Amino acid sequence: MEFFVDTADISEIHELNEYGLLDGVTTNPSIIAKSGRDFKEVIADICKIVDGPVSAEVAATNYEGMVAEGEHLAKIADNVTVKLPLTLPGLKACRHFAKNGIKTNVTLCFSANQALLAAKAGATYVSPFLGRLDDINLDGVDLIRDIRQIYDNYDFATRILSASIRSPNHVKEVALAGSDTATMPPAVIRALANHPLTESGLTQFVADWKATGQSIL
Ligand code: E4P
Repeated sequence: MEFFVDTADISEIHELNEYGLLDGVTTNPSIIAKSGRDFKEVIADICKIVDGPVSAEVAATNYEGMVAEGEHLAKIADNVTVKLPLTLPGLKACRHFAKNGIKTNVTLCFSANQALLAAKAGATYVSPFLGRLDDINLDGVDLIRDIRQIYDNYDFATRILSASIRSPNHVKEVALAGSDTATMPPAVIRALANHPLTESGLTQFVADWKATGQSIL
């Protein structure tokens, strides 16, 4: 499963990229607002750090506006993926970009039928939002399973990008459900490496090694 980080924080992206854990980055208007930085500048900076896809979301909600903004964003760097909302005009814009060889991420997907439409529109990625479904007492992981089955039934090439991930358990569940990609906050990516038995085991090994008085180098 590909790992994307859901942030515009340059130092976090740098650090996670150094660990070799990043296959891409996603942003959205809320994340850009939180960064306090110029949108196009921060996307250009991220694209210089990470080789994989970097999602940059349009602000317009009408077809013409989304096409104009998406074409502008796609020129920032070769690895920009144009992020579009899962609306009828967004799907029309997705079809336009697919025909022109520009990668897309259709976002704010909350149902299997919406994901079916994104695939039919030629989306590169579809982003089902797990956490926001869980917030209203619906099962986000069930949605990933349903989309996986539909895409496999018809050999759709659109990649499932599980989004709105809030915990390491979400990551395990979407991996089991066959998600192609997951985008996660930096803290969730780091938390995947944690286990109390790893920590206590290492503490013991360090102490026992010290007691031997030996050195490897
Ligand atoms: C994904 O592309 C979105 O930016 C993100 O995952 C939304 O997460 P949230 O529901 O925690 O805001």
